[in-house]
Amino acid sequence: MSKVKKVRGFQDIYGENAKKYRYISDVARKIFENYNFEEIILPYVEDISLFKRSVGEATDIVQKEMYVFTDRGGREIALRPEGTASTVRAYIEEKMYAQSSIKKLFYEGAMFRYERPQAGRYRQFHQIGAEIFGVSSPLADAELIKMVSDILNTLEIPTRLEINTLGNFEDRKNYIKALKEFLEERKQHLCETCNIRIETNPLRVLDCKVETCKDITKEAPLITEFLSDESLERYERIKEYLKALNVEFIENPCLVRGLDYYTHTVFEFITDKIGAQGTVAAGGRYDKLVEQLGGPPTPALGFAAGIERLMLLLEKLPEDRPLIVVIPITEEHNIEGILTADLLRSNKFRTELIMKEGSLKSKMKLANKLGASYVVFVSDKCELKDMTTGAQEVFENIEDLIEVLKVRL
Ligand code: HAM
Repeated sequence: MSKVKKVRGFQDIYGENAKKYRYISDVARKIFENYNFEEIILPYVEDISLFKRSVGEATDIVQKEMYVFTDRGGREIALRPEGTASTVRAYIEEKMYAQSSIKKLFYEGAMFRYERPQAGRYRQFHQIGAEIFGVSSPLADAELIKMVSDILNTLEIPTRLEINTLGNFEDRKNYIKALKEFLEERKQHLCETCNIRIETNPLRVLDCKVETCKDITKEAPLITEFLSDESLERYERIKEYLKALNVEFIENPCLVRGLDYYTHTVFEFITDKIGAQGTVAAGGRYDKLVEQLGGPPTPALGFAAGIERLMLLLEKLPEDRPLIVVIPITEEHNIEGILTADLLRSNKFRTELIMKEGSLKSKMKLANKLGASYVVFVSDKCELKDMTTGAQEVFENIEDLIEVLKVRL
């Protein structure tokens, strides 16, 4: 019979990779807690209009990458491609703005984008992300970036941080106008996609990967020339705070991001180690989005990191706790075996009970394969074998054996 395979772009995460996933998530959660963020667990599906109105109608995500379907009630819904839109929707819908003037939320979970799968790019992937609502001070931008940098440093994942500002709405509008004019004049030299982008999303032309487009955009006007004094001042402050925090960064005036909601600060943490999909964490400010989605005017900012990309880069995992393997010598000792394993676990030891029938030799082989640090042989007595030294000790009762293990482990 033919086997059913997993869907293209989807992955099973197990074994060492599952450990990496959990470790990354645990490290991030601890750091979110240090920065006093609360968790929000968001739905996997949303009304499709949420993403059109936030991520943007003209973006690749909305145009080409969303998993969209009509449910049995005739609703047009989408599997979430990212977490910011849902967090903003929840912030407004649950009236979180009425609870406190500042709200700091983090989330973790699967996101879905119908992209061409390759190393570091999947159709279902997982993000950890955080959003801050209600703070316009550039201190928040610096703290957010420092928090991401803390996560990456704790995971010992080296990256370079690129930052840019897109200015306020007005600055951005003026800049887009000038950029559009510049691109229109060079239309015939730009790739087909960029020709469409001139109309739909001219900022995206700036990070086109096609060489001819890259050459042209080198000459393009820069956002920096269009920034208001207020935007410039804000950008300067952020850079000053980052320097004070010893967070190294590179200014990249072409960094625009693929989602429409950003204003002012945008940033990406990038690595060259995993090929083309090098951005491991990214985010920025989106001061108009809450209002655009029907909430009260609320400055906001956030970031998200791709867990699978971090997994590709993670080299060190904390060691597993030592494993104790319990072997009932014969079937007659099964009851003592299961009780011994139970007692070891209630004393917080990581314990595996060998449940396979067979020779002692085959049970020992399995214990070795499982990576046992100690084996406890259960018969009329208890025997402890140190798998590193080979030393064996006999105990009258299991309690004495546990006391010895407590001292050693
Ligand atoms: P994004 O840049 O679209 O931003 O995604 C953030 C991160 O998710 C990327 O840097 C990457 O690590 C990971 N990622 C994205 N697509 C894929 C994929 N197909 N496969 C594997 N990993 C992927 C956002 O999603 C914004 N919501 C970030 C944000 C939060 N901005 C403000 N607040």
